[in-house]
Formats: sequence, C-alpha cells, structure tokens
Amino acid sequence: MPIVYEASTRTFHVQSRNVSYAMRIVKDGYLAHLYWGRKIKTTGLKDPIPTTFRPSFQPNPFPEDERFSLDTLPQEYPGYGTSDFRSPAYQVRLADGTTISEFKYVRHRILPGKPKLKGLPAVYAESEDEAETLEIVLEDAVAKLRLIVRYTAFRDHDAIARSAEIENLGDRPVRVLRLLSASVDFPRADFDAVHLWGSWTRERHIARRALMPGVQAIESRRGASSHQHNPFLAVVSPDATEDQGEAYGFSLVYSGSFLAQAEVDQFASTRVSIGLNPFDFEWLLEAGESLQTPEAVLVYSHEGLGGMSRTYHKLYRTRLCRGVYRDKERPILINNWEATYFDFDEEKLMRIVHAAKELGIELFVLDDGWFGRRNDDKRSLGDWFVNREKLPGGLEGLAARVNEQGLQFGLWVEPEMISPDSELYRAHPDWCLHVPDRRRTTGRMQLVLDYSRQDVRDAIYEQLAAIFSSVPIAYVKWDMNRNMTEIGSAALPPERQRETAHRYMLGLYELLERITSAFPNILFESCAGGGGRFDPGMLYYMPQTWTSDDTDAIERLKIQYGTSLVYPVSAMGSHVSAVPNHQVHRITSLKTRGHVAMSGNFGYELDLSKLSEEEKAEVREQVAEYKAIRRLVQQGDFYRLLSPFEGNDTAWQFVSEDKSEAYAVFVRTLAVPNGPLTRLRFKGLNPDKTYALRGTDRVYGGDELMYAGLPIPDLEGDFRSVTFHLTEVRA
Ligand code: DGJ
Repeated sequence: MPIVYEASTRTFHVQSRNVSYAMRIVKDGYLAHLYWGRKIKTTGLKDPIPTTFRPSFQPNPFPEDERFSLDTLPQEYPGYGTSDFRSPAYQVRLADGTTISEFKYVRHRILPGKPKLKGLPAVYAESEDEAETLEIVLEDAVAKLRLIVRYTAFRDHDAIARSAEIENLGDRPVRVLRLLSASVDFPRADFDAVHLWGSWTRERHIARRALMPGVQAIESRRGASSHQHNPFLAVVSPDATEDQGEAYGFSLVYSGSFLAQAEVDQFASTRVSIGLNPFDFEWLLEAGESLQTPEAVLVYSHEGLGGMSRTYHKLYRTRLCRGVYRDKERPILINNWEATYFDFDEEKLMRIVHAAKELGIELFVLDDGWFGRRNDDKRSLGDWFVNREKLPGGLEGLAARVNEQGLQFGLWVEPEMISPDSELYRAHPDWCLHVPDRRRTTGRMQLVLDYSRQDVRDAIYEQLAAIFSSVPIAYVKWDMNRNMTEIGSAALPPERQRETAHRYMLGLYELLERITSAFPNILFESCAGGGGRFDPGMLYYMPQTWTSDDTDAIERLKIQYGTSLVYPVSAMGSHVSAVPNHQVHRITSLKTRGHVAMSGNFGYELDLSKLSEEEKAEVREQVAEYKAIRRLVQQGDFYRLLSPFEGNDTAWQFVSEDKSEAYAVFVRTLAVPNGPLTRLRFKGLNPDKTYALRGTDRVYGGDELMYAGLPIPDLEGDFRSVTFHLTEVRA
C-alpha cells in the first residue's frame, strides 16, 4: 500500500515506487513535515523532529517547552500570526476583521484511487488500484474553519498530487485572502532554483540560480499562466545535472495567475510553495461554503532533472491528458496562418490543400480570418459566423473539398475574446471584463469576455457547438491572445470583485469540459499567442499546445528544450515555416527546420503550393520519416543530451519504452572553424541490446552508443543538423 499511518508515532508515510513523503502530527495537532526524498522502506522515521532552545526572539506556543517553536517547525500547511514568521500557505480574514487562525488535526482517511477535484483540472487514476489518496482534516475551533489537505500517491509514477480545501463551519462569512496548493519545508538551503521564463515568441527558457536568503518568487498577475513565467518551480541540489543529483519539482495544474516561491529562512531551511496568486485575490466564503485550490504535482527524482522530467512527461501524457487522442498518434498538419495570414480565399487555400495531399500531409487547419469581417486583427472576435466573401461555400463547402482530397479539416477559434468592433460587443457591451467608469484597455484591439458569467459562456457554447456540429471538424485550435486588465465583472457584487479572475478560470474550465465532452472526437490544441498558457490545466482538456509563435528552428531549440523540463513532447505543436523566418528573419535549411519540428507534433505552416519541386521532394521525405518515428516521438521517453542554454550544440533523444528503438536529433547552431571532432553519447538505451543505425550497414551495442557515442559527421555552415535512428537487431 503506498500510504500508511503509524498510530504509535502519529506518522503518515506516503510512498511511491522510489519516493517517500512523510508527515507527523505533533503536540496537540500540528501537521509537521518530516521527510520527502528517496524511498525509505520502513515506516520508520521514528526520531523526534529536532528542536532547540533559543533564548531570544523565539516565540513559544507552549511555555513549558521552550524548545518548540512554530517558526522552526517544518510544516505541511502553515499559517501566519500564531508565531511562524515565514510565508504562510493560507490566510483568512474572519468576520471580526482579524486574520488569526490555526489548524489542528482532527481525523484522516485513506481512500483507494483519486477523487476528482470538482470543477478543476487534475491528474487522475483510471482504476482504484493505481493510486491512493490521503485526506487529512484539520480544524480551527475558534474560527470555525475546516481545512482538508489531500495527497495522492501513484503506483506507477513517482509523483504526489496535493491540494487543499477550506470550509466555513461558522454562521458568518469569512474572506479567504490566500490559499496555496502546497507548501514544503526542507531542512536545508543548499539548492538551486530552476524555472521557466520568457516572453511572447521566447517562451520557457530555463533559468537556474542558487537560492539566497529571503524570498525568491516567480508569478503571473496576468490572468493566464503566461509567456513570462510557467507555473513550475524546482529546487535541485547544486550538483544536479540531467542524470544525477536531487530534483524536487512543483508544477501547478492551473492556467491563471499563480505564485511559486522559495523562502530561505534565518536557519537555512527552505520553504517552497505554489498556488493561486494571492495578489489581488480575495474570496468570500459564506457559512457552509468551501473553496478548493488547484492541484500541485510534486515530483522528486534522484536522477537529476532528466529523471524529474520523465516522471512529469509520463504522468501528464497518460494521467492528465484525456480523450481519444491521448494515446493516438497525432496527425501531420498544414496550417495556413504563416502561409496567408488574413489574405486568403477558398481557391488560395485549396492550392495549399492540393499540395499538402501530394506530400502526404493529413490535416488542413484553417486559422484566423474566416469569420465576420476579420480581414485584419482589429475586429469581429465574437462574431462566429463565416465570411462568405472569402468562403462562398461556407465552412461546409471548404471542409467538403478538403475531405475530398483525403485530408481532415481543422479550424481556429478564439472564443474567450471580443472585439469592440463586433456585433457581439454592440449587442452586449457589458460582456467583457471591465470596471465601471474605467478605460477598457485593449490588447491586439480586443477585450476579454467575462467567462465568470454563465450567460456569456452559454452564448459562446451555443455558437461553437453550432459550428462544430455543422461541419466535419477533426481538430480545433483554441487560441487566446491577450492578458487581463481592469479585472472586474458586471455580474458580481462589490464584495466579490476580487474573485473575478479565478471565477473566469473556473468558468473557462467548465466550458472546456462541456465542449470537449460534447465533441469527443475532435483533437483540441490550445494556444495563447503560442505558449502563453502552456500549462497542465489546459492539457487536461486539450492534449496539445501550440508551443510558440516563434517557428524559427534555432529559437525553437531553447523553447522546446525548456518546455521539455515539465511537459511531454506529445503536448508540443511544432511546424516547419518559411525562410526568412517571419519572427527573427533567420534563414535555416529545410532539413534543420524539419528535424526540429519533427521533435514534436509535426506540421507545416507555409504556402506549400509555392515550394520548388526539389523542396517538395524533401518535404515528402520528411513526412514519410515522421510517420515512421511518430509513435516513438510522441510516446517514447525523452532524454536531453546537449543543452542550447550551455553551448553551441543541442541534442535530444527519444527512446521507446521497450528500448528497441531510438531517435536522436543533433543541431549545431554556428559553424565552428577548425573545430573539435564531436561525439554524441546516447542515453536510455539497453547496454545489452544491439542496434542498427538506419541508413547505414553499421550495428552497435547499446553500451558503445551510450559510453563511447557516435561521431558527428562534418557539418558545413551555420544551423546544421543530423539525426540518428537506431533500431534493435534481434538475434
Ligand atoms: C496567435 C497564434 O499563436 C497564431 O498561431 C495564430 O493562430 C494567430 N494567433 C492568429 O491570430
């Protein structure tokens, strides 16, 4: 059993295959953190939590025990105001205006499987024997508040899913000011923080720095998980590499504003916490009501960042993503965005479709510009009816012609937005997020629809459902192109205005659940100006995300490498686009563009009808090659070999679960004059297996490939790449 409770020591021991997480109830009911790390087999951990006497400035809740202090006790869900001065996991303002509360253990239960988080995305267990969940109930008898903290351990994944729920047991309303998903106190501070940061077209670059005394935080206040910071923070031992050292990951299953922070205190212990951003947040909890936090997924690995990433990849690919496409190979697509932008008509699109058919591409995606008067990005969001000037036969006519060519039809929508210049806005000017008498700041000439409102969501649902059921749509790209400002709702009373952003997310999740359940056979890809909402929350509803609006192969090295720290390759959309590249104007070869894009959910985003015969032949080969490695890329184990953040060479590798096949991609950014003879060492192979290198008559032992490696052939010029496809030779 992965979770045990030892009554004699009042110790909880949550175990997965290689990891232990332990807590203990101390004194008259404080829930203390005991251990998180490499598996300890016995329930053990019998030693008392160390305490010490400090003559000054150490508050003592129990004067008879001057060694005990909440300010040094490692805790599971700490509060503020009763003598722990570190950052709390929660804060509640009571009806009398005070903010003091303190939770004590009341009871617990251990459940098979994993209960759903109502209204929120979360990792799941498919059967009761896959996981166990521990629910610990704590109460504050004075404040009349109940707190339930939940921990799920999985049989097959070294991950622990945590969340908290608060309930008002009293008869007067209280205000929740802060309610994080998880907090862990480590008895050490010798850590590096690792996180993902960036900007639009430069998402999820890896940042790593040594922890310093004090608070270091990343956050989003944008109403979306954001391009700037991803809802993920790891603390790793300073010696941690891709393959060894300790890594503790915190990933938040949420798509809105978040906070993730590490606080190194005066005694060199570290508190790491993650959850909904308390900034500009407040939640009114009426008597009898409860509030559930999003889920945080905690992963420990003693096999470095690579080990941590592979745990997230497998868990998120198989137990966060859902739907018929979860385990299915994803189609190779052609998207018309960078090919035409808004300037298209049916014939132009069909020329691209005909070329795509010839090249073996499987899905055509019609991007922005097909509806209302959308001939630029200044209008018509909200008017989800087809522009007959561009598409005289409607979407039905176009989809039928696409299907006739043997391609599936996909469509772009941006349903969370409204253009001030739209029929929808003229009819419902109060349907956007706004604050009375304040400017309505536009971004890309659009406002954000108020998804905290049921009537708004219903209206959008009706429009989308009408389109999705009248046309044979196989794929939908769900876009979102600005962050929130003037966050307020015309439908909420003054005392609930600061709930708007979170209510928006709950509303979005409700609509996504509704639409994805009503159209289970559609493959949904989420997008937010590329990767502005590449988070586990969105992946619960849509199994893939458009990784970045930057399609340049060299920029994509860092973006895809960084994204892989947490997210599986099956979640990353990656396309070959034209040169000079539209974002950075760089010229790279079709070969390199293909190799980088093939390291994800592959597609093209250029005018295929304009390719030369030579280029078409190359694309045909790429498509055929991707079809041959698609399952391996989308469902294999991913290993990072060489980091674009550390040098001129980047390499990564996919290995099938049974280690019978592997595919590695190597990219050299700039040519090196008179350079070294580089060898690439593989990872994750079986040292006892023999592998053939495709395209040659050479065979190698897995040990040789991993320990000695293969030489990189001569690469002339900048931005060059080479791949290695290995298949097991069976005796
Ligand atoms: C932003 C997306 O990331 C692009 O791929 C494209 O769909 C545009 N929006 C369309 O407006």
